[in-house]
Order: sequence, then structure tokens, then C-alpha cells
Amino acid sequence: MKGVVFTEFLGMVEQQFSADMVDDVIDDAHLPHGGAYTAVGTYPHQEMVAMVQALSQHTGIGVTDLVRAFGKYLFGRFAVGFPSFFQGVDSAFQFLSSIESIIHVEVLKLYPDAELPRFDVEHHDAQKLVLLYHSPRHFEDLAEGLMQGCVAHFGEPITITREPAPHGASHRFHLTRQN
Ligand code: HEM
Repeated sequence: MKGVVFTEFLGMVEQQFSADMVDDVIDDAHLPHGGAYTAVGTYPHQEMVAMVQALSQHTGIGVTDLVRAFGKYLFGRFAVGFPSFFQGVDSAFQFLSSIESIIHVEVLKLYPDAELPRFDVEHHDAQKLVLLYHSPRHFEDLAEGLMQGCVAHFGEPITITREPAPHGASHRFHLTRQN
């Protein structure tokens, strides 16, 4: 997993908890290189899981809630860090339906060794978007948080539900417009 995701995670821990909590999470996660991440480096995604578990133990907040909250925060950071991805995009459905065909394609140009999930658009009309997420890393909570962040960014009344899809490492997300 790219270092940018780790540095953003530790940034969220500092902003929403404290600098001491960053140190505690790094210590308790027993990270091989002491938690020194660079944005362009690549690190085992298990280290992210270990840090989230450590944060959960310290805060009493469940892992799923923490990962979702991180996804929402991360989307806000991406919106600031990658403004060109938002040019000409005026809705959450437009943005989310282009993750596979545009957004992550551009991400791969910037970070050629990024390990990205696959998002298939199963249905897309004005009221409903159905996305199928596949990843051997099982970051569906992160995906849900990123989608929540995207909906919040565009300020649209959209609800998100999800269900495990029948084939292996997949989840189906239903995004429904509420008006
Ligand atoms: C400006 C928008 C976005 C940028 C710049 C971006 C960039 C990235 C980067 C750098 C990674 C890490 C890859 C790695 O660790 O090797 C990643 C992973 C991921 N992205 Fe995106 N992304 C964006 C939008 C989204 C959105 C909107 C979603 C979901 C709805 C999404 C879902 C994911 C997930 C779930 C992963 C974790 C890897 C996995 O599931 O296997 N991304 N993205």
C-alpha cells in the first residue's frame, strides 16, 4: 500500500486525537521500520490493519468505524491534493462511476506500483448507482468511507448500503438518491 495512505492516516490520528496517540499507535503496532513512511514508498497493507487495531484498542472505537471515518477523511484530503481529478465533475455519481476508468488510471500514472481495487459499474442512472468492489485486500470499509466522503464533498442527499457479493473478495454498493 502506498505511503501516502499511511501518512494521511497518521495525520488523521494527530488531528482527531493527538500527537501522543500517533506515538502510541506506532509503538503498539510493532512496525518493522518504526512507522517512518514516505508518500511514494510502498509498505505491506497489514501495517495499516495493525495501526487501526492499535487505535481501536486505545480509543474503544470499533475497527470498522475507524476505517470508514478514515475513508471519509481521506477523500477530503484527495479533493485538496488532486484538484485536477475534480475538474468538470459536478456530481458524486459522475465521480464515483469514473473511479475505474479515470481516477485510478491517473493514480497508476503517479504511483505505478499502487495496488488498486477494481470497481465495476453495474447500474448507473440519475437515481441510483450500483458499484461492485473487488480487492484481495478487503478494504470495503475504506471504500464505503471514501464514498461517504465523496457524497459529502458534493453535498448530495445520497444513501449508501452494501452487501457481500457472491464471488469471493467482492462487495456490492448501492448508492440511492433521496429526492
Ligand atoms: C481523488 C480521488 C482518489 C485518489 C487520488 C485515489 C488514490 C488511491 C491511492 C493512492 C490508493 C493506494 C494504492 C496503494 O496502496 O497501493 C488507493 C486505494 C484505494 N482506493 Fe482510491 N483514490 C481516489 C478515489 C477513490 C474512491 C472515490 C474510492 C471508493 C469509492 C476509492 C477506493 C479505494 C480503495 C478501497 C483503495 C484501497 C485498496 C484496495 O481496496 O485494494 N478511491 N486510492
